[in-house]
Amino acid sequence: MNQLRVHGGSPLSGEITVRGAKNFVSKAMVAALLGEEPSELRNIPDISDVNVVSGLLKLHGVIVERDVQGGVIRLDPRNVESAHKADIDTHAGSSRIPILLCGPLVHRLGEAFIPDLGGCRIGDRPIDYHLGILRQFGAQVDKLDTGILITAPRGLHGTKVELPYPSVGATEQLLLTAVRAQGLTELRNAAIEPEIMDLIAVLQRMGAIISVDTDRTIRVEGVDRLGGFTHTALPDRIEAASWASAALATRGDVYVRGARQADMMTFLNTFRKVGGAFDIDDGGIRFRHPGTDLNSIVLETDVHPGFMTDWQQPLVVALTQAAGLSIVHETVYEKRFGFTDALVRMGATIQVYRECLGGLQCRFGQRNFLHSAVVSGPTPLRAADIEVPDLRGGFSHLIAALAAEGTSRVRGIGLINRGYENFTAKLEALGAKVETD
Ligand code: EPU
Repeated sequence: MNQLRVHGGSPLSGEITVRGAKNFVSKAMVAALLGEEPSELRNIPDISDVNVVSGLLKLHGVIVERDVQGGVIRLDPRNVESAHKADIDTHAGSSRIPILLCGPLVHRLGEAFIPDLGGCRIGDRPIDYHLGILRQFGAQVDKLDTGILITAPRGLHGTKVELPYPSVGATEQLLLTAVRAQGLTELRNAAIEPEIMDLIAVLQRMGAIISVDTDRTIRVEGVDRLGGFTHTALPDRIEAASWASAALATRGDVYVRGARQADMMTFLNTFRKVGGAFDIDDGGIRFRHPGTDLNSIVLETDVHPGFMTDWQQPLVVALTQAAGLSIVHETVYEKRFGFTDALVRMGATIQVYRECLGGLQCRFGQRNFLHSAVVSGPTPLRAADIEVPDLRGGFSHLIAALAAEGTSRVRGIGLINRGYENFTAKLEALGAKVETD
């Protein structure tokens, strides 16, 4: 199943459920490795990133039991052991999560071999912050032909770090290393995304001592031993917003069971400014097209509590149906507008620019990155043959194909399984006419 035929032009309507956040679940699974007792994680989605992390943990002796349907995963790390480099290497290029195994593996086994990383090609995605942090804790980093080897001959010691940019992954790297390092660690300019707060909650359940200040400073007191945890993952706010954008772009009405207002405040404000309607209850959020014209907006992506970069791509599809000129400034990743080429082929009017448009100067200004977009609408979309470029861009292409008149062929949909569980079944539940080839 790698190609989807989408017969577009009808509104999505009905109810779907989102489960735990991809960008939390994989990290919580890594945290379980730090414990000396088993852990249980609930609300686990059936996505391929969970399989990648399960595979890596199993290679290191963790017993993984999974109830896919029930969304429960049990991780028993009591017999953690070193894995063969060749086996670890089979996971090269599959995800970015392996870099987060460094601290936990060094604490448990004295060394960590990390394969070459994968993940979406939406920018260079360097790991300099990660390696800098590990070195500050006293780790030695050796680059091998494939992957890197991390050792800590004199142990890992608490340290003071200030990030040049509030990176999600680097903040997680620091947390997963500091909790068992000797002494105090302080991180300034930390990322404070809800998924990070949930990771901190998990670590606290395991016995860690972590405080978060309002000025983005995180302080960790290292402890000698961590136990297990039982925790229910926070809902996936990126998946929820993706379905919301799909409802808007197709003039539909979708109830997203599991969506949580608290994690989506900024998205909801923007959705409302575009003209989208929503109703919130205890079980989820219903997202609706208003039946009247949508409004153009000026939007800038940012770290939390700003508008997430991962919300940008699906919403841009809806903006092609809004009246007037929308300006979108992407400040988190330098190359996250590649997906707009396919939208233009489908009839959208989108131009991308090197300049920082509509907002403040960002890190990518005066450089060669097409990181601002001007979307002019509304333009009817027409069917096309599309190749999925990355996870969120791919889902956005699906939305465009659903909104377009005619039959589109979307190739490479396997990539979308990384972050959207059972998305073809969910599309069918919402009345979409799709066929897998
Ligand atoms: N950065 C560096 N050096 C580093 C680390 C990051 O320059 O060592 C830069 C990046 O290149 C980027 C910025 O810092 O320009 C932010 O990157 P960050 O580290 O915050 O991102 P990440 O941890 O690699 C996670 C999510 C992304 C999400 C971002 C931002 C996971 C597995 N991935 O990536 O999710 O976009 O945070 O919220 O948690 C997705 O789900 O599709 C996705 C890409």
